[in-house]
Amino acid sequence: MLILQSLSKTYKTGDTALSEVSLTVPKGQIMGLIGPSGAGKSTLIRCINRLVEPTGGQVLLNDVDLVGLGKRELRQQRRRIGMIFQEYALVERLTVMENVLSGRLGYVPFWRSYLRRFPAEDITRAYALLDRVGLLQHADKRADALSGGQRQRVGIARALAQDPELLLVDEPTASLDPKTSRQIMRLLIEICAERGLPAIVNIHDVPLAQQFMQRIVGLRAGRVVFDGSPDLLTQDALTTIYGEEDWNAMRKGDEEQTAAEADARDRISALAR
Ligand SMILES: Nc1ncnc2c1ncn2[C@@H]1O[C@H](COP(=O)(O)OP(=O)(O)OP(=O)(O)O)[C@@H](O)[C@H]1O
Ligand SMILES: [Mg+2]
Repeated sequence: MLILQSLSKTYKTGDTALSEVSLTVPKGQIMGLIGPSGAGKSTLIRCINRLVEPTGGQVLLNDVDLVGLGKRELRQQRRRIGMIFQEYALVERLTVMENVLSGRLGYVPFWRSYLRRFPAEDITRAYALLDRVGLLQHADKRADALSGGQRQRVGIARALAQDPELLLVDEPTASLDPKTSRQIMRLLIEICAERGLPAIVNIHDVPLAQQFMQRIVGLRAGRVVFDGSPDLLTQDALTTIYGEEDWNAMRKGDEEQTAAEADARDRISALAR
């Protein structure tokens, strides 16, 4: 279980990105985090594993407060948190397998990782994870030879190789097409359910969040302004989160995009005839 208590962050520039955010994410729950650009979504995710130092509050992961830890302890505790980024953050010239194994680095002595010699059980498990995310046949390919969706699957397998107690996911589908986005979301949900993992998924796409998340938290200007199940996310609630103008613009953008997609589909099927 993850508990955030009055988590706050004011950057050195004076920007207050988070104000007293308190949230509890129980085991197995996957929580979607939505909100306009600059609302503090990435800051929230980064404060949890202290890629960004919070200026106030507590982060309790299964009863350990991560905020008070010194460097060495923090390094150990970070193993418990799997991060999945939009930009995949894979090592391009390494193979899929090596990228997944790099999730074990926090556990393997430095000399072994330097020589890239991992214990046999790590390798067996990495194969099982690659199988789980549907990439077994690509284990020996270089990361830079993969598609966006495949790369995100490697990112997921690598995070799982860490054997995490929490998953933090920042815009996992931002660079993917709609179908691949749904596949990746589904995979994330299934994996969290299988392992009883709590997860926070920062997600731009509101319909995608509504389709897949059990719980949605809306941030606006660093504060929680919505917290509930997706069916409570009404037009009013969305206006509270995004503001009238932004939300209408977003909807219009979506409609235009849907129309453009339909148009493209029509043209492609006309060509196929
Ligand atoms: N390193 C930084 N230094 C100063 N201010 C920052 C820094 N990172 C973020 N901010 C500010 O903190 C606020 C929240 O930013 P954050 O990146 O968390 O938003 P976000 O919700 O993830 O936005 P987006 O949807 O665009 O990714 C913004 O006002 C931003 O300008
Ligand atoms: Mg962000």
